[in-house]
Amino acid sequence: MTQEQLSPTPATQGEPLLEVRSLAVRYPNGAHGVRDVSLTVHPAEIVTVLGRNGAGKTSLLRGIAGFLSSEHVTVTGRATVAGHDLTGVTPMRSFRHGVLLVPERDKVFANLTVEEHLRLATRGKQPYTEPCAFPALDRLRPAKAGLLSGGERQMLALEVAWRNDPRLLLVDEASLGLAPVAVKELMERLRVVARERGTALIAVEQDASVALRLADRAYVINHGEVVWEGTSAQTSAASLAREYLGTGR
Ligand SMILES: Nc1ncnc2c1ncn2[C@@H]1O[C@H](COP(=O)(O)OP(=O)(O)OP(=O)(O)O)[C@@H](O)[C@H]1O
Ligand SMILES: [Mg+2]
Repeated sequence: MTQEQLSPTPATQGEPLLEVRSLAVRYPNGAHGVRDVSLTVHPAEIVTVLGRNGAGKTSLLRGIAGFLSSEHVTVTGRATVAGHDLTGVTPMRSFRHGVLLVPERDKVFANLTVEEHLRLATRGKQPYTEPCAFPALDRLRPAKAGLLSGGERQMLALEVAWRNDPRLLLVDEASLGLAPVAVKELMERLRVVARERGTALIAVEQDASVALRLADRAYVINHGEVVWEGTSAQTSAASLAREYLGTGR
């Protein structure tokens, strides 16, 4: 069975799961993380957000997941999940509504083993011995997370997130620092598992070809604003890279 047979594109009609309207994030020093972003994600849809360094991708994800609520950062606009207003709420509150962020850095605890991460993640809800969605992790259970490769740490962070049963997973640059072959493997698995479980995803990426292979739809942001949006089929990585990301030839 091919990946596409496994992965029909979910309907984008009907009520969105996540609705972000005119979100703006302003840091205490006056810098704008996000100026004005509106986007939607439907149930089980995979969306990518692309942009250059400093475009506002991390600020956007942290704003949606509530990670800016305790940092004297001004967040305006509105983010709703299944109709619940999440604007300005704490990460705990957004987690209760099924929103989980896998951050850009510091995703795992270096001194805990893979097995200990799985135990922590399941909190008795589901046996931690259950096979991992990323099978490579099963043979690494006794290893300390601090000794894992970048790709293995990324898998562990995603595995922990999935064991918390998110409805919407926000993944900040899963491909960061990984070799192309590791990126390809990770992204293919991410897409398959998201589809199997019906998890909606926002994957922030800088590489348009990686992002478009993964996602159903894409948003490109620049200086904190959406400059392009459409389905992955409506564009090409080369044209996004050339026109918006400054990485094309
Ligand atoms: N804590 C902060 N305080 C002040 N300014 C910040 C802070 N965090 C981010 N910024 C600024 O907000 C803007 C957007 O940053 P952000 O980290 O969201 O971008 P990004 O698209 O994730 O970049 P990258 O691809 O490098 O991760 C940048 O101009 C950045 O300097
Ligand atoms: Mg970032």
